[in-house]
Amino acid sequence: MKTKQRSLTITRSIHWSMAILVIPLATLGFYMANTQSYELYSLHKSFGVIALVLIIFRLFWRTLNPWQSSTKGTKTGKLVKRAHIILLLLLMAMPITGFLLSGLGGHGVSVFGLPIIPTQHDSQGLAIPFNKTLSDFGYLAHEVIAYLFSAMVILHIFAALKHHLIDKDNTLKRMLGSED
Ligand code: HEM
Ligand code: HEM
Repeated sequence: MKTKQRSLTITRSIHWSMAILVIPLATLGFYMANTQSYELYSLHKSFGVIALVLIIFRLFWRTLNPWQSSTKGTKTGKLVKRAHIILLLLLMAMPITGFLLSGLGGHGVSVFGLPIIPTQHDSQGLAIPFNKTLSDFGYLAHEVIAYLFSAMVILHIFAALKHHLIDKDNTLKRMLGSED
């Protein structure tokens, strides 16, 4: 019983820490890309790499300790399960495509100054891609998936609020940890 309680606490902690990390990360991404604030790119990449490590851990954890949705067994149960899987797949695709666009684009990837993938520049300081095709694909995919992911997260938040405010069930309370 104690072990089950501990594993639920870990699942909840991962869920909320990811939400706190990923929502500002996506907001920063849209802001910097739309205003061409290049000085913010390294901050975005640093937190993006940290997010990737946490996402990999989350996927392992989730496989071993699946979350039992309060909608399990109801009419929407299967739909909710699929929506959670899609959320996780889109979440995973974000840092992977980020790596393709930045790493293979020759722009380099580092975590707060610690280099992970080196930059590659010509004499005028312009980035030379290691692989232009994959980097162009990453660029397009990072943007398209960013919109899909954001739409899914917004839908997810509305669904959680609907459960809490309209259906008045324990879906949100369970994820917050105030109910089992
Ligand atoms: C969960 C992780 C991540 C999220 C949620 C995220 C989200 C975003 C979003 C929403 C944008 C704006 C898209 C646009 O309008 O073009 C963006 C742009 C960008 N992201 Fe990420 N990102 C993540 C991880 C990464 C990683 C790991 C890297 C690189 C290592 C990266 C590099 C970039 C770059 C360079 C841009 C600017 C692209 C441009 O100039 O249009 N991102 N990101
Ligand atoms: C303020 C933001 C958020 C709220 C209020 C929220 C709320 C919830 C709630 C209430 C549940 C339980 C659903 C159930 O039992 O059926 C849940 C589960 C879940 N949420 Fe969120 N969430 C938020 C942000 C996010 C974000 C950013 C992601 C990113 C992918 C996410 C991914 C998931 C996943 C995958 C599950 C299923 C449990 C698991 O496998 O970890 N959530 N969320």
